[in-house]
Amino acid sequence: MDSFAFIIHPLDPKRDVSRKYPLLGRVLPESAIHFLSQFWPPVELSRITGARSIATGKEIEGWLIAVPYTARRMLELPPAEVYRKIIAAGHLAERLGAKMLGLGAYTSVVGDGGLTIARELDIGVTSGDSYTVAVSVEATIEAVLRMGLDLGSAQVAVVGASGAIGRAVSQLLAPRSGNMLLVGRDLARLQVTAAAVTAAGNANISLTTDVDEIQTADVVVTVTSSGGALVTPDILKRGAIVCDVSRPRDVSWQTSRQRQDVLVIDGGLVRVPGAVDFGFDYGLPAGMTYGCMAETMALTFEGLFEDYSLGKDIPLTNIRRIEAIATRHGFSLAALRSYEQKLDDIVIQKVRAQAYAGGMG
Ligand SMILES: NC(=O)c1ccc[n+]([C@@H]2O[C@H](COP(=O)([O-])OP(=O)(O)OC[C@H]3O[C@@H](n4cnc5c(N)ncnc54)[C@H](OP(=O)(O)O)[C@@H]3O)[C@@H](O)[C@H]2O)c1
Repeated sequence: MDSFAFIIHPLDPKRDVSRKYPLLGRVLPESAIHFLSQFWPPVELSRITGARSIATGKEIEGWLIAVPYTARRMLELPPAEVYRKIIAAGHLAERLGAKMLGLGAYTSVVGDGGLTIARELDIGVTSGDSYTVAVSVEATIEAVLRMGLDLGSAQVAVVGASGAIGRAVSQLLAPRSGNMLLVGRDLARLQVTAAAVTAAGNANISLTTDVDEIQTADVVVTVTSSGGALVTPDILKRGAIVCDVSRPRDVSWQTSRQRQDVLVIDGGLVRVPGAVDFGFDYGLPAGMTYGCMAETMALTFEGLFEDYSLGKDIPLTNIRRIEAIATRHGFSLAALRSYEQKLDDIVIQKVRAQAYAGGMG
C-alpha cells in the first residue's frame, strides 16, 4: 500500500503537549516547554488509516510524526539546527516506508521553504502550500457569498502578502476583487507580490507595512508567520470577513468575543475521502484535515512521489494541478468553521444582522 508521512509540531504548547503527554502538559510551564522542546527527538505519533480515493478505490496509509519544536522556538533557533531535526523526522518517515513527506505548519515556514530538507531525503517532499492556497481562496469566496458581499467591489487585504501562501492567494483573488491591500513587513518584498498581482489582472493595489491599515478592508486573508494575535478586534472594519490561514492563528481569540459583526473563518480545511482515522486528536473533527496534509495525501493517491510545493514562490500551475488531482480523488472544501466550531447559517445570519445594524454596505 502506498504511504505518506506528515510532520506536525506543537502550536499551542501546553494544549498540544498534553495531547501526547498529559502529565507533562499539565505540570510544565509554557516557558519550560519552549526550552525543553529542542532536546526532544522526533516521535511517531500515530498511524493514519482508511483514506480511500473515490476515483480509483485505492487506499493509502500514513504516519503523523511530531517534531517537538514550538513555532516560536523554530523562529528563534538557527535554521540549520531546526533543519537537522526535521531531516531526522524525514529519515524516520523513510524507515516507516513512506514515499511522500508533508511539512506541516512552521516546518516549511522556516528557512527556504523545504528546499534544503528535500535535498537530504530520498522521498518526495511537499509543504502542501499549493492546495492550502486553493482551499483558502475557495473558503474566502464562499464566506463572501454567504455574507452577501460583492467581492468585485470589495477591498481585499492580504496580510503576509510577501510570503509563499500570501503571494499566491493575492494573485488568485486579484482578478475577482475591487482593489487589493497588500500587507507585510518589507516594502521591497511586497513590490514583488504587487507585480504578480498586476500581472494577474488587478492594478488597483496599495502596499503597507502597517497592519492597522486593514481597517478599511471588507475582506482580509491573513497568512503570516507572526506567531499569533496580529489581527486584533480594534483594527477590523464593521462587517469584515476574515480568513485566518495561519497556524498559530493570526486573529486573536478576543476578536470572536468582542466583534459579533465580524466573520472569522478558519482557512485551509479539507474533507478527506474514505473513512480516514488519523489516530491522534490534533483538534479537528473526524474526516477533516488541513490543506497541506490533504496535498500530501492527494499526491500519494496519484502516485506522484516527487517534490511538489517547495520554496517561497508557488507557481499558479502547481495550484491548479493539485486542485484537479485532489478533487478527482474526492477531497473537498470542508464546511466553514470559526475558531474550531462549525459555522452554520444561523451564526452567519447573526453576524450579518450585527454588521448591517451598524450601517455596513
Ligand atoms: N491552514 C493550513 O493548512 C496551512 C498550511 C500551511 C501553512 N499554514 C500557515 O500559513 C502561514 C504562512 O505560511 P507560509 O508558508 O506562507 O510562510 P512564509 O512563506 O514564511 O510567509 C510568511 C509571511 O508572513 C510575514 N510576516 C511575519 N510576521 C509578520 C507580521 N508581524 N506582520 C506582517 N507580516 C508578517 C512574513 O514577512 P517577511 O516577508 O517579512 O518575512 C512572510 O512574508 C504559517 O502560519 C503557516 O503555519 C497553514
